Amino acid sequence: MIKAVTGTKDILPLEIQKWKYLEQIVNDTFTRFNYKEIRTPIFEVTSLFARGIGEATDIVSKEMYTFIDRGGDSLTLRPELTASVVRALVEHSLDKKQNLNKLFYIGPMFRQERPQAGRFRQFHQFGAEAIGGNDPLLDAEMIIVAYDIISKLGLKNLSVKINSLGTPSSREEYKNILREYLNDKIHSLSEESKKRLDLNILRIFDSKDERDKVVMANAPLLINYLEQESIEHFEKVKSALSNAGIPYEVDSTLVRGLDYYTHTTFEIISGSVGSQSALCGGGRYNGLVKEIGGPDLPGVGFAAGIERILLACENENSFMAEEQIPDLYIVTLEKELQNKSFDIALQFRRNGLKVELDYLNRSVKAQMREANRLNVKFVLMIGGEELSNGEVVLKNMKNSEQFNLPLNNLVGITNKIMEV
Ligand code: HAM
Repeated sequence: MIKAVTGTKDILPLEIQKWKYLEQIVNDTFTRFNYKEIRTPIFEVTSLFARGIGEATDIVSKEMYTFIDRGGDSLTLRPELTASVVRALVEHSLDKKQNLNKLFYIGPMFRQERPQAGRFRQFHQFGAEAIGGNDPLLDAEMIIVAYDIISKLGLKNLSVKINSLGTPSSREEYKNILREYLNDKIHSLSEESKKRLDLNILRIFDSKDERDKVVMANAPLLINYLEQESIEHFEKVKSALSNAGIPYEVDSTLVRGLDYYTHTTFEIISGSVGSQSALCGGGRYNGLVKEIGGPDLPGVGFAAGIERILLACENENSFMAEEQIPDLYIVTLEKELQNKSFDIALQFRRNGLKVELDYLNRSVKAQMREANRLNVKFVLMIGGEELSNGEVVLKNMKNSEQFNLPLNNLVGITNKIMEV
């Protein structure tokens, strides 16, 4: 039997109801903050991600689904959307039409990571990018929107971690200080971290290896080497978050896995999902638009993992998805009336009701059983005798009340059903 590829999964109808509920909250919340939706292609030229996310990051160096197409071009399934959104903004000169573009998205991403609970190879993110503004209030807005969406889903066991990575120049200076500190401790680091010393030294803070943790516990922290501009920016973000009632904590080891960040970075962590606990992550990226070939515009954004959020919701039992139940089931009493029932069903459907009827040539008893299985509130019985009087029989399945109603008053029947 052919199965879905490792790390991908089918989202079956019952689960879709949860997705739709989440997507509705995402849409509503972003709309209230005046973000406009953007949809970009699933694949892009590989160099976009290599330049945007950074060659030395795990994503680019070992996780991308990259292939050469028949025309000889190197293409990559998008591992994230920030680089794509920036590319689209520059390509369509959106920044010329308005100074600040606030965009949001929902869609699948692809990373060849080792699958585990909460980690997939095809996963879905919702997220946002605000490009063109450097106000710390925008950084705070991102954290607030993310937190509001996640809270609206009923999740409780959350922590919000924030940090500032400063400007590229202060970060370069700090990297030298960190390198100096690590110089005589190299032998105590894990093999992976030894490699990171030259490639991506800040990521050593992210290591789960006990040896690295011991060494990094006393390492100098970037937050103590920030320039005045970064300190002020960070202070404004923090006070906006406090005013908004967001329970954040500063985590000066939060470096994140993508190279484009400047100033603020943040993550929202759930205590309900095991080791893959980051429900969302983001931050400011003031050099990225230029790096990708556009004007020198500042940006800030975040993305959240939908599978992880839904896993947390399930573990916390935070909301119930409503099953999709038809309003009405049509029972055909005589086989030769099947076309008539189909026709009546169509009229009700076009009138706005959710209607189902039998397509399997079932007996009347089996049709009633099916109506019960579907849990419909009403059954409409179509029989020759009633039809000859221009009537149909409507049965309320909850209290077994039956009414003979004129078939020419579809609106009346619809209203009777909708009332309950
Ligand atoms: P990221 O931290 O790589 O950031 O991903 C954001 C979120 O996507 C993670 O917190 C996690 O919930 C989810 N996620 C990532 N990888 C997987 C996976 N393999 N399986 C399931 N969920 C996953 C970004 O993607 C940046 N583009 C965020 C951003 C936007 N920064 C600025 N703007």
